[in-house]
Amino acid sequence: MTFPAELERVASTVEQRLGTLLGADQATLPASTKLGDAMRYAALGGGKRLRPFLMIQSARLLDVEETAALDAACALECVHCYSLVHDDLPAMDDDDMRRGRPTAHKAFDEATAILAGDALLTLAFEILSTPQTHEDATTRAELVLMLAKASGWQGMALGQALDLSAAHQTFSAEETVKMQALKTGALFRFACEGGAVLGRADPQGRAALAAYANAFGQAFQLADDLLDAEGNAEAVGKAVAKDAERGKATLVALLGIEGAKAHLAGLVAEAEDALAPFGDKAAMLIDAARFVAERRA
Ligand code: IPE
Ligand code: IPE
Ligand code: MG
Ligand code: MG
Ligand code: MG
Repeated sequence: MTFPAELERVASTVEQRLGTLLGADQATLPASTKLGDAMRYAALGGGKRLRPFLMIQSARLLDVEETAALDAACALECVHCYSLVHDDLPAMDDDDMRRGRPTAHKAFDEATAILAGDALLTLAFEILSTPQTHEDATTRAELVLMLAKASGWQGMALGQALDLSAAHQTFSAEETVKMQALKTGALFRFACEGGAVLGRADPQGRAALAAYANAFGQAFQLADDLLDAEGNAEAVGKAVAKDAERGKATLVALLGIEGAKAHLAGLVAEAEDALAPFGDKAAMLIDAARFVAERRA
């Protein structure tokens, strides 16, 4: 199967499972509240679902069935969706469009968007701690610890804080890479290392997946920054040409468009090399890295 077709298939499986986890397919919604509606609005009906895709594919590389990785992958997507809701708030990036429609605080209100983000974050840990997600309690606890670290004060949240602080100071290329490794890379690392934990990878296998995730995360954010610089708002489903105006630290600002593209090609090669120990089995993950670098949406 080609990467786009496989991504579409996994995305629709994730969409369905997330809908169930968020009570969308219950005849009478016990959670039919504004808060529940905002959570479903933020988590369903859009998004490439790349993080769950990487988690499922990393686990599959280690012979874990998709159904055995699906709920952990959905937990990760809940954290990602929460991060987008908060990222778009007026106090942060102040964006009106996300995934081709109004951002959560525009569709609802700021307080509801903040709470929907909070509740999606806690739901992620509820899902990860549920026995149905994994039969082994030690594995569940390990995933909970990893996701907490990836999301929190020394992970994604710190990266977001650094991203905002860049508006008031100049970041070097090294500082920019470090900030992006936190704000974006941490969740991609959880996807791949979480897959490694589900598949009980040996230390070398886990290190290979971590190295792939590091390169993938950098490539992904660089492509996002290139789309901001030269992409089309309708295609990407969110406003473009805003990073420079907001003083965001990006490698596009530091290297220029052509320099950034050359760097991006190097990152894709790095991602490919990292998976060499897995041979042909890693073809889908390698295609994913090529795709993120070339994406237009
Ligand atoms: C957007 O992530 C936020 C960044 C880290 C750049 P995605 O581009 O994966 O967003 P969705 O989930 O597909 O909307
Ligand atoms: C967002 O980065 C990263 C997180 C949400 C953690 P951006 O601010 O560049 O993402 P977009 O461009 O709004 O999707
Ligand atoms: Mg941001
Ligand atoms: Mg943003
Ligand atoms: Mg961006």
